[in-house]
Amino acid sequence: MCGIVGAVAQRDVAEILLEGLRRLEYRGYDSAGLAVIQGKTLARIRRVGKVKNLTDAINENPVIGGTGIAHTRWATHGEPSERNAHPHLSNENIAVVHNGIIENYKELKNELSKEGYAFTSETDTEVLTHLIHKLQNETKDLLSAVQKATKIVTGAYGTAVIDSNNSDQMIVARSGSPLVIGLGIGEHFVASDQLALLPVTSRFIYLEEGDVARLTRKTVEIFDKNGQPVDRKINLVDAKSDSADKGEYRHYMMKEIFEQPTCVRQTLEGRINTQGVESGIFGNGFEAITGQIKHVTIVACGTSYHAGMVAKYWFEQYAGVSCSVEIASEFRYRKFYVHEGSLFVSISQSGETADTLAALRLAKEQGYLSSLTICNVMGSSLVRESDFNFMTRAGTEIGVASTKAFTTQLVSLLLLVLTLGRHKGLTSDHEKEMVAALMQLPGKIEQALMANDVIETLAEEFADKNHALFLGRGDQYPIAMEGALKLKEISYIHAEAYAAGELKHGPIALIDADMPVIVVAPNNELLEKLHSNVEEVRARGSILYVFADKAAKFESDDTQKVVDVVATEAITAPIVYTVPLQLLSYHVAVIKGTDVDQPRNLAKSVTVE
Ligand code: G6P
Repeated sequence: MCGIVGAVAQRDVAEILLEGLRRLEYRGYDSAGLAVIQGKTLARIRRVGKVKNLTDAINENPVIGGTGIAHTRWATHGEPSERNAHPHLSNENIAVVHNGIIENYKELKNELSKEGYAFTSETDTEVLTHLIHKLQNETKDLLSAVQKATKIVTGAYGTAVIDSNNSDQMIVARSGSPLVIGLGIGEHFVASDQLALLPVTSRFIYLEEGDVARLTRKTVEIFDKNGQPVDRKINLVDAKSDSADKGEYRHYMMKEIFEQPTCVRQTLEGRINTQGVESGIFGNGFEAITGQIKHVTIVACGTSYHAGMVAKYWFEQYAGVSCSVEIASEFRYRKFYVHEGSLFVSISQSGETADTLAALRLAKEQGYLSSLTICNVMGSSLVRESDFNFMTRAGTEIGVASTKAFTTQLVSLLLLVLTLGRHKGLTSDHEKEMVAALMQLPGKIEQALMANDVIETLAEEFADKNHALFLGRGDQYPIAMEGALKLKEISYIHAEAYAAGELKHGPIALIDADMPVIVVAPNNELLEKLHSNVEEVRARGSILYVFADKAAKFESDDTQKVVDVVATEAITAPIVYTVPLQLLSYHVAVIKGTDVDQPRNLAKSVTVE
């Protein structure tokens, strides 16, 4: 949430900063800004809207200088406007960009106002900026000032600070919001996500909680939360992981939908064989505790939460392990019961979602047997702080609406179900059948993608609708929820999902000719029940859009349009049926002309509560 890029270099850095912002735009795109030390003064340019607006402004008025910071914003305190955009300045010499939230900003603002500081924005960041300026006056050193400021402010944040009186220096601090240092030769960089810096370096240091660092062109000094100098590991990142390119596709979302067969193959690679799941894939020591696991608690947000909901069906049906699933923002603020032998599982594409991270930290104090995260970003906070981790290997996902991260989460969860199932009576024959289904999955997804043209045509019928209802039963109910979420997120059509059997207890009152109903209907043991639910809807005049395989025996007519989905094993059906729903949302959004990859008000990585 919000993106930070900074550089200390000999060359002009404006273009590096702008490219970094473009790559971080998925984190927030209300406004963007940049400040560069130009001679002895700060040149700052800010614009409302996308990074493109900032780029145009800089093309008209180039900024020259080797030290600078830049920011793309997702508004928390104060509306998206130029005066609220970062960087914020104090006394025309200190410039600050900041991610996250400063919780005690009101008290600090009162104190600083009394001392004569004038505020030009509504942001908490400007409070931090003036505080650092004040502390620098006292300490005469920017590093000490930032270190002191981090002890005064509360909340979760990442920040980068420059001072035009010392152009060969940038101070950065991490407290709850990720920051990575990029190492160059005779130049150093910082960003909230390494993706921003891949054009300039492949060597990274991930800062730890409470770290403050001083970067100059030649040096990087890191201090831990106690102010002690520390060495942090240098990580080499394969430049191939740089997928910030849309290739032949019009949108990242479409590219990412079509990458799913490859991503699923990557997620499975080296993790299954024809007999079953390979051992040791959840990390050293995990299998030593699997016999003790009696319950799985899954905590996640958004799309990742839907993956958890599907997994609940799987854990209880195939692994014989009870499972509860909860939204992280609820879990973290309620008194919960920890079942004996409970494994805490977090699911997150970013690994930085503030609520999920807070839930993990809380769980670690509450007597869970162990913690495991299923995550797409190596080195992220959830990965570092969980006892075990399992990487989904979907590659960088740029589209804000999650697609390939979701399907690879489901694949990963299935591997966990099989691993735990072995200790709970899942037979080796059953395991063999399931890995065979997993091996076929990339091919099934490829076949599901072939419905793209049909779905594109169908999407035209949704573009003038204001509401839609998604129905599913069993492990397809969360898939219906995910379908509804996708449609809401990118087409702004109000969509809800119901377990089809629940329809008659209320939502059926909504049904009329203006309410399209989308049904996910694989040929499984609930099919007959689902047929009855579909007839209830038909009898009330709605138009139905049924996604089903041929054996499910749905026929197209005036009131019912059937989209063929490839026949698939029951275990992998939720993954395969996700794909046509992604395509439907995508095409509806394109027809409606919304910003598919960066829908309004959303952000990819939600690092604030
Ligand atoms: C944001 C994103 C969603 C994502 C959710 C949880 O809202 O826009 O796509 O599902 O955060 O994120 P996580 O990174 O924890 O999966």
